[in-house]
Amino acid sequence: MQKGIFENVAVIILAAGLGTRMKSGKAKVLHEILGRPMILYVVETAKKIVGKNVILVIGNQAEKVREIVSENFPLSAESDEADGNDEVGFALQKEQLGTGHAVSYALPNVPGHIEDVVILCGDVPLITADTLIRLIDDHVVGKRDISLLAVQVDDPKGYGRILMDENMHISKIVEEADATEAQKKIKTINAGIYCVKKTFLTDALQKIKSDNAQGEFYLTDIIGIGHKEGRCIGVMIGSTPDEVIGINTPHDLMAVETVMRSGKIS
Ligand code: UD1
Ligand code: MG
Repeated sequence: MQKGIFENVAVIILAAGLGTRMKSGKAKVLHEILGRPMILYVVETAKKIVGKNVILVIGNQAEKVREIVSENFPLSAESDEADGNDEVGFALQKEQLGTGHAVSYALPNVPGHIEDVVILCGDVPLITADTLIRLIDDHVVGKRDISLLAVQVDDPKGYGRILMDENMHISKIVEEADATEAQKKIKTINAGIYCVKKTFLTDALQKIKSDNAQGEFYLTDIIGIGHKEGRCIGVMIGSTPDEVIGINTPHDLMAVETVMRSGKIS
């Protein structure tokens, strides 16, 4: 499986975090869902849409993650082994200073011809290729700088909230830890899945700072930067919130297993 549907799109998957909230010694993305490490679901979906142009950011238990992914996605017969090309590319983020910091480690590995970059989280394993295809199509047709996937949920706790300006344009994402009480009531949340023009992403990542409650370089800050610069930003509201459950705790892991068993998402 060499070619994906989109030749000018690459996917970056963030998978370097330890996942402190899982309260386990195992890197979060290696936790299993129905007997299979969660990262494999995400890589499989990414490969369906962009083929070889997948870059995984690894850090915690990096060699273990690399081994498991490489074993499951071995070089296919058509690969040019002389180039030493893996089926999946890896970027090492030695210190985990935030999701924005993680993406900046992957960017140098994105091939030159790529125009748009999809960013996925290794801990959001139920995302489907269909939804990603719709997000990318929307992004390309709308000639946007950033398109992000959001969903409306009853319990937004733990997720980044989407803020709108007076013209109902998305202006910022605020993380739970930085949110005011009023912002915490917002039920439109960031799924952690984006399609971003590569040139804008490269530029915006140089501008993010770590002056927030967690002292991290948040990827979500590129939205506020884009809004200030008058960039074209769009939100796609996903119709199936279950698809974007982020696994941060053992409880989330159980919730995802329940959804997968139900066969509602495949
Ligand atoms: C993130 C988003 C939040 C969104 C949620 C969706 C940010 C700042 N917040 O929050 O708005 O609602 O996802 O699930 O982006 N990672 C790295 N390197 C790092 C830090 C994280 O690779 O330095 C990876 C983690 O392994 C994980 C992913 O990035 O797979 C997301 O990190 P996590 O800490 O789970 O972010 P959330 O708090 O869930
Ligand atoms: Mg998470």
